[in-house]
Parts: sequence; C-alpha cells; structure tokens
Amino acid sequence: MSKYITTPIYYVNGEAHIGHAYTTFIADTMTRYEKLKGEDTYFLTGTDEHGQKIEESAQKNGKPTQEFADEISASFKNLWDEFEISYDKFIRTTDADHKKGVQKAFEVMYAKGDIYKDFYEGHYCVSCETFFPETQLEDGEFCPDCGRTTSIIKEESYFFKLSKYEDRLLEHYANNPDFILPRSRANEVINFVKGGLRDLSVTRTSFTWGVQMPESLNDDKHVMYVWLDALLNYITALGYGKDDADMNYWPASTQFVGKDILRFHAIYWPAFLMSLDMPLPKTIGAHGWWTRDGEKMSKSKGNVISPKEVSDAYGAENLRYFMLREVPFGQDGDFSQRAFIDRINSELSNDLGNLLNRIIGMSGKYSDFEIDSIDVEKYHSKELDAMNEALGNLDEFMQNLQTHRYLEELWKLFAIGNKAIEEHAPWVKMKEDKKDEALATVALVANILAKASIMLHPIMPKTTNIIADALSFEINNESYKDLVLGKNLLKLFNIKKVPPLFPRVEEPLMEEAPKAMPDDKPNDEMKKELNAKKEEDNLIEIGQFFETSLKVGVVVEAEEVPKSKKLLKLQVDLGEGTNKQVVAGIKEFYSAESLLNTQVCVVANLKPAKLMGMMSEGMLLAAKDEDGLCLVRPEKPKKAGTPIG
Ligand code: MSP
Repeated sequence: MSKYITTPIYYVNGEAHIGHAYTTFIADTMTRYEKLKGEDTYFLTGTDEHGQKIEESAQKNGKPTQEFADEISASFKNLWDEFEISYDKFIRTTDADHKKGVQKAFEVMYAKGDIYKDFYEGHYCVSCETFFPETQLEDGEFCPDCGRTTSIIKEESYFFKLSKYEDRLLEHYANNPDFILPRSRANEVINFVKGGLRDLSVTRTSFTWGVQMPESLNDDKHVMYVWLDALLNYITALGYGKDDADMNYWPASTQFVGKDILRFHAIYWPAFLMSLDMPLPKTIGAHGWWTRDGEKMSKSKGNVISPKEVSDAYGAENLRYFMLREVPFGQDGDFSQRAFIDRINSELSNDLGNLLNRIIGMSGKYSDFEIDSIDVEKYHSKELDAMNEALGNLDEFMQNLQTHRYLEELWKLFAIGNKAIEEHAPWVKMKEDKKDEALATVALVANILAKASIMLHPIMPKTTNIIADALSFEINNESYKDLVLGKNLLKLFNIKKVPPLFPRVEEPLMEEAPKAMPDDKPNDEMKKELNAKKEEDNLIEIGQFFETSLKVGVVVEAEEVPKSKKLLKLQVDLGEGTNKQVVAGIKEFYSAESLLNTQVCVVANLKPAKLMGMMSEGMLLAAKDEDGLCLVRPEKPKKAGTPIG
C-alpha cells in the first residue's frame, strides 16, 4: 500500500520559524523512513494563502496581496529546498488547479444538500479566521484562542451541515483508535463533538481574497472560508476536481498538524470527506508547540527562532536530530541552546562520532582498513542479540510517531558498541596476539554503525551517507532489507577515513534570545525597537486618519456591568440629540460614579458591537501602561460633540 504524508500548509503572513520546521522535519523523516522500507510514498507540503489575515498583512507591507503571497510562499519553499526536504509537491492555495478543485468539492457538497444558504451573526476573530459563540469569549469580547478583540459580523453565508456528521464522526473515532495520535489527544476532540456540533459557515462576504464560488451557483458576493479552501488542498494536490485525477495515493496515511489545528483536521476535515464520499485519512498526528528558553515565541517579544539561523550556526541535520529527540511527540518542547549543545556533545559527538573515529583508527592500525565479519558471531553473539532486539523495536516507535523513543532505542546500539570496545579492549587482544578477536570486535562495531546509520538515515540523511561511505556500503532499501530485516552482517569491507562529523560545541553559537521582563512585557530597548518598526509599518495617509470621527463626549449615565470584571456601561452625550451607549473595559481603573458628568474623547463612527450581550456604539480613548489606564480628556471643557482632529 502506498503512503501519503502531509504537513499543514503554512500561512503566508510571516516567515517560517522552528515550529514550522518541526512539522516539516517529522513529515520528511516519516516519508524517508517509508521509502527506506520500500514503500511508494507521496509527500505534500505548501502554503495557505487566502483570507482576511493575509490580505491585511499584505496591506501592512504595502504590497499587492498576490505579490506578497508569492514572496512569502517562495521563502518557505526555498527554506525547505535548502533543508533538502523531500516533498513531491509544494501546493499553493492560489494555484489555479487547487481553486478549481475547491469549487468542484463545493458543488458536490451543495448538490448533496450538505451546503445551504442562511445568515450568520457572530463574534469573529480575524486573526484566527474563526467565529466564536459569545459563551466562549473572554470578557464578552476577546478571542479565547489568541486574546485579540473580536468583532461582530452579520452576513449572509453558506453553511456546511457539520451537525449531520456528529454520529458518524464519533463512530469513526471509536472504531479507529489510531485516527488521532497521540491517543491522549483524542479525548478533547471526542468531547468537543459530543458537546454538539453547529453547522459551519463556509463562505464570507466581508472580504474578497479567497476562492470564488463555483460558477454554477451564480453568487459572486461570496468567497470560500479559508479552512474549507485550505483543508481541501490535501486532495486537490492529487488532482481532485480534474478529469484525469489520479487519486491513488488517497487516503493519506499520516497527516501531521500542530495541536492548535487538530480540531480542524479531526472534525471538519473528516466531515468534509464524508460529504464527498471519500475515505478518511488513517492518522492525524498532532504535535505540541515549541517555546524558546521556556517562553512562548512571538514577534513582539523578538524571540522567534529562524530555522535558517539555527542551521547556519549548528547544522541542519543536528537541528533535525535535536527536535525529534528532544520532545515526546504530542508534547510541547523547549528550544534552548544549552539543551541543544548538550545533545550535540554527548549523543552525537561522544556516542556516535567517537565510536566511528575509533573504528576508523583501529581498523587502520590493525588491518590496513580491511575488515570482514567472519568471527563476529563467534565472539559477540550476546551483543548481536541485544542489537537485533533494539533494531526490532524501532518500527513500532516510528509507526506511533514516537521519534524520541525511536532515537533513544537506536542509541542503545551505540551503547552496545562502546561497551564492547571497553570490555573487549581490542588493543589488549592485539598485544596478546589474538588478532581474530580484536578484529571481531572492530567488525562488530562497524556492523553496529552500519545498521544504526541505515535507521538514522531518515532523520540525518546526509550525515548517515557519509558514515555509509566510510564503511563502504550504500543506504537504500536493499541494504535495509539485507542488514536490518535480514540481520545479515557486512561482507568483506574497507573502511575510509572521514573528517569528524560532529565537532564539539563549547559555547553557544547564536545570540541568546532577548529576555522578556517577568511580567512578560517587552523591555525598554525592545520597546524602542518595536515602536520604530511599528512606526515604519504603520504610517498612514492623513485621509485615513480623518476616516475616524473623534468627538468630545459627556458621560451622562454610568453603571457597572454585572458579572464583568472589566466593563462599565455608559450613556454618552455626543451632541447628536440622542445619547450613545458605550461599553468600556475600564472598571478596574474608574468607578461608575467617578465618571458621571465628566468629559471623554470618543470614537464616534464605530460599527456597533455587542459586548456581553450589550450594544456598544463607540469607544473611549485611553492610554495604558504598566501603571494602569487613564482616559484621554480635553484639557479645557468643550461642548459635547466638539470634533477632535
Ligand atoms: N494555514 C493553517 C493550516 C492549514 S492546514 C490545512 C495554519 N498555518 S500556520 O502557519 O499558522 O501553522 C502551521 C503549523 O505550524 C501548525 O501545525 C501549527 O501548529 C505549527 N506551529 C506554529 N507555531 C508553532 C510552534 N511554536 N511550535 C510548533 N508548531 C507550531 O495553521
């Protein structure tokens, strides 16, 4: 059976960081592993380029959206090429074929009665491209995922009948325990589905940067919701929607995703596929998040790590090794130079690198680099058994995506080799004139290195090719079958000298991350830098400023919003005849009473929004720093409604 492996497609609103690199490394490793085993594989990665978020990022950067998307998409692709990621296809959601495939899928779902038109009103987070029910909002206003302010959107929308698939989804999870890995993550998905699924809004009219509706629907007000568009990439990449589509690789064997997007992949995605009458992927593998030195990475903290920077400093394959060895799949991981350097020095340099050097040295000295395995079984059957046992355990770890256990188990081989050298001390045997025994130990270790490098190949392809070259064999499906599955030993072979593969690292090779202050606020220097950067990014035309109507207002009524820590409800006279209701998050800093009959500055032409069920028709100007918040007020009393400009 063929294997189809995917990464999520990455948003093109910023450059790749090590979190993205991690998903790509695991998927690449899995693909190379399956190839080594002789499987027919297809590996897909790419970029997710539609939606309001991308449109806004392009605007901020002062570029046409397509041009901006082209640039960032190319930066991902170039990075993966530099890392020699073995993808078969790099898909972009702006590809014409992809768009056609999405339209086709929409038509199929619509014809089936799974998509219908209605109205949607809800709190929308632009950053997460997601609607949230009011009950899930923080303080009635803020996105539960990213904490940003949500806005109320009421729009006509097409809906996908997600609710219809609730039972079938639950049945699928129950019958396929490996559908979500690690299994510990399945419960959160199951509980979410059991809590009841609402139909999903799958089109938008509030922006245009998206896949157009199929012509047959004749409704060009709408564009597709980004998640419908994005998830379908996994089948459009194989040609879904084209007459000559070759869908042989479908269903996918493993689809890697971060834990934050598991819900989309384990609920929406299978429901879409059920609607299209297509089989479901075998496994959705959800990994954890990477932090840096214990802190969440974010642009504003300036501590995001670029994979390129790390690989330039420490080597790309060392980074792959570190990331796959450091965290149990599914759990969060921390990137620190200290931990990275420790693993390079102890595991790569000492355990593996030194072992290879010793074998090169001893074989040169004792037998002019020519070795055979004739006496290995005679003197080292115990070691061979232990080695074969560890090798036999590896496949299960990889199938369960437990790369850290895979590598831990693999490292047992080097421990066996190092111990055999200490115990059998070939240099003593040579002195005692027991050359056969001495060479048997050297050959044992050469075989260990050969078999281990075959199994390490998916994680460190180039490095292991150098080891294989030093041991005069090639890593491929044949040597895998012969030396690993067949448990055979290398025939007569020559050993070649190679330069040290893993030079020890004494000092951190990259600058340390800027330290965030304990309260998580950027420090002064960072603030200055950030402000300078923001200023550059955020320059606006005067006309844009005057689009905002700012007015002096007088607070004529004020009361606390029950059950809210932050909100006060105010009636503000803006000289417009009727008062405006403003719900403001200032309760921690002002009592309702203290505001009565005072003057405030108000954004008077905001679209009304609902906060904790109450309409808010304006916003107060305020300034907030470490010491708290203060309202911005006119220096001298002004009439209610006086424009500010
Ligand atoms: N475009 C969507 C995915 C659509 S798939 C049909 C998306 N893109 S993303 O660029 O924001 O994230 C891509 C992947 O990177 C996700 O799997 C996400 O979990 C992962 N990571 C983003 N930051 C991460 C870390 N700090 N650590 C590990 N992975 C993280 O979501």
